[in-house]
Amino acid sequence: MKKGFIFDLDGVITDTAKFHYLAWKDLAETIDIEIDIVFNEQLKGISRMDSLERILAHGNKSDAFTLSEKEALAHQKNTHYVELLQQLTPADLLPGVKEFLTAAKEKQIPCAIASASRNAPFILEKLDVADEFQIVVDPATLKNGKPDPEIFLKAAEMLGIKPDEAIGFEDAQAGLDGIKAAGMYAVGVLSGEELHGADILVHRLDELSIDTLLAK
Ligand code: BG6
Ligand code: MG
Repeated sequence: MKKGFIFDLDGVITDTAKFHYLAWKDLAETIDIEIDIVFNEQLKGISRMDSLERILAHGNKSDAFTLSEKEALAHQKNTHYVELLQQLTPADLLPGVKEFLTAAKEKQIPCAIASASRNAPFILEKLDVADEFQIVVDPATLKNGKPDPEIFLKAAEMLGIKPDEAIGFEDAQAGLDGIKAAGMYAVGVLSGEELHGADILVHRLDELSIDTLLAK
C-alpha cells in the first residue's frame, strides 16, 4: 500500500511555466539572447541558476559573466517572475487538483511538495492550498537538483514514509527521472511534451482513482 503523495508544483498544481518563460525571455533579451517556447521546455524542473546557465549556453555566453553578475541576472528574472505571480488566484489551480487534494485529505493521505522553486510557499498561499500540504521541501537545503532523486527522497523522509510507499507526480522529464531514481511510483502529468518512464500518464489529476493508486 502507498502512504503518501509527493507533488511537483509548477506544471502539476498550477501552470507557472508561462510566467517563467516570460520572465526568462525578457531577461535573455537584455543580454542579446533569444529563447523560444520550444527551448523553454528544457527549463522545466531545473533550478533558477541552472536555467540561467542553459540560457547562457544557448546564446554561446557561458563564460561572458562573473558569478556575481549571474546572480544579479537570476535576481532580476526572479523579481519580474514574482511580479507576474501576483495575479495568481485559486482559479489558477490546474483542473482536477482541488478534487484530488480533497479526496487525499478524506483518506488521510499526507501530501508533500517537492519543487525546485524557492517561490513555492508564496505560490501555494496565492492558490489558497498551503494547508493541503503537510510538507514543502525547501530546495535551498538540498545539494542536487532534479533529475537527482534527493528532493523526492527528502520529501518521503519528512512525510515519515519509505520511498516505495510514495507516489510522485511530475510534468517534467527531469522530475520524472528523479522520482524513478528514488524508487517511487511515478505519475506523469502531460502538458504537451512527451514524457518517458512514467508508471502512468494523465492529462489531469482527476483522471486518477485514489484507491487504485494507493493499491499500487
Ligand atoms: C521549477 C520550474 O519548478 O522551479 C523551473 O519548473 C524553475 O522552471 C524552478 O526554474 C526554480 O524556480 P524559482 O521560482 O526558484 O526560480
Ligand atoms: Mg514541473
